[in-house]
Amino acid sequence: MRPAWLAEFLAFSPGPAEEVRLFFAPGRVNLLGEHLDYNGGTVLPAAIQVGTWCAIRPRAERRWRVGSHTESAVVEAAWPAIRVPRAAHGFAQYPFGVVVMLEAAGIAVPGADCYFWGTVPQGAGLSSSASLEVVTAYALTAVAGQTPDRVTLARIAQQAENAYVGVPCGLMDQLTVALGQAGHALLIPLPTLAVRAVPVPHAQDWALVIVDSRKPHHLVASPYRQRRQECEAALARLQQAGWPIQALADIAPEALPQALAIVRDPVLQRRVRHVVSEQQRTLRAAEVLAAGDFVAFGQLMNASHRSLQADYDVTGPELDTLAEAAWAVPGCVGSRMTGAGFGGSTIAWVARDAVDAFQAQVRATYAARFGREPGFLVAELGDGVHEVAWTNEEEIPCASS
Ligand code: GLA
Repeated sequence: MRPAWLAEFLAFSPGPAEEVRLFFAPGRVNLLGEHLDYNGGTVLPAAIQVGTWCAIRPRAERRWRVGSHTESAVVEAAWPAIRVPRAAHGFAQYPFGVVVMLEAAGIAVPGADCYFWGTVPQGAGLSSSASLEVVTAYALTAVAGQTPDRVTLARIAQQAENAYVGVPCGLMDQLTVALGQAGHALLIPLPTLAVRAVPVPHAQDWALVIVDSRKPHHLVASPYRQRRQECEAALARLQQAGWPIQALADIAPEALPQALAIVRDPVLQRRVRHVVSEQQRTLRAAEVLAAGDFVAFGQLMNASHRSLQADYDVTGPELDTLAEAAWAVPGCVGSRMTGAGFGGSTIAWVARDAVDAFQAQVRATYAARFGREPGFLVAELGDGVHEVAWTNEEEIPCASS
């Protein structure tokens, strides 16, 4: 018996099953350190169990065909036409952008048939796009017999998103998807990329609950770009005043009052204050997490949410309601928005035996205010992108329907 995913792939790409290889890349949550990656700060994300599968068969000619379980259209493009981004290509822009950026990095990949399945909820702020990009980059280089290092793959995936799809994201999501380690968060200082895996202890006692507001966030249209520009403007003022810093996260906490005096503009001051305070919280969070102090970690999460709400202006009524509802539940030690904001998800640390009550209470509060229910997912911290050594028993959770 063929697994359902393989039957689906062979309908899309007829030919010998032995030529088909299967890859998986996770989604991610960010535990702490929000809007710090493009400010030269330190972030603390983790890969999670939901993600994107890519089945692939190389082709003789330089043509890329992509299909997906959730899209009826098959999209294809050949070299060199593929180099021109087209909005009409829809989700295929992500894999096509990866092909183009791999080439730009001097990594030649063969034409291929690629088919995708995904379990990352769309628009939930859990990096479905980084997952799609990184699994494509890994699969294409693997079938080309190449093994670029994972940081290089993450950078190529980010370039696909920045320069081909047109979303000005930082590097955090792609790095997490590429480098994730089961049972660990990743402490990533962006300037050096000296990544440290931080074990997350007591998984039997504490659950990381993701709550999806089901208010989609769209980075292209969102104020994300505007936040980046505000941070650049604040940095430029400090550099013009002679400060020897490369990024806002370089500002020492004790130098903050002086920095604010130079920045002057009240909006830019709030952006700077978020970056400097969030950087301190992230470094502290990695310490308390390694020590298993979830109560201290939760307090840092709550302070992070407040800072993203009051100083960075990226939460909004849906995420504020979810975080505040979580704070009121006994057994929940902390909650905050995760990812870019403007919609998407919150996360919360909840005692395992309180998870059901947590969901019931947060669901009721949110539904009463917005007339729709949030989605819940208890996160498991998983590995980064990898090949799946499939057998005829290997099934993909969403492939059968
Ligand atoms: C999105 C971006 C990331 C990062 C976060 C905010 O997820 O893709 O690069 O900037 O927002 O921390």
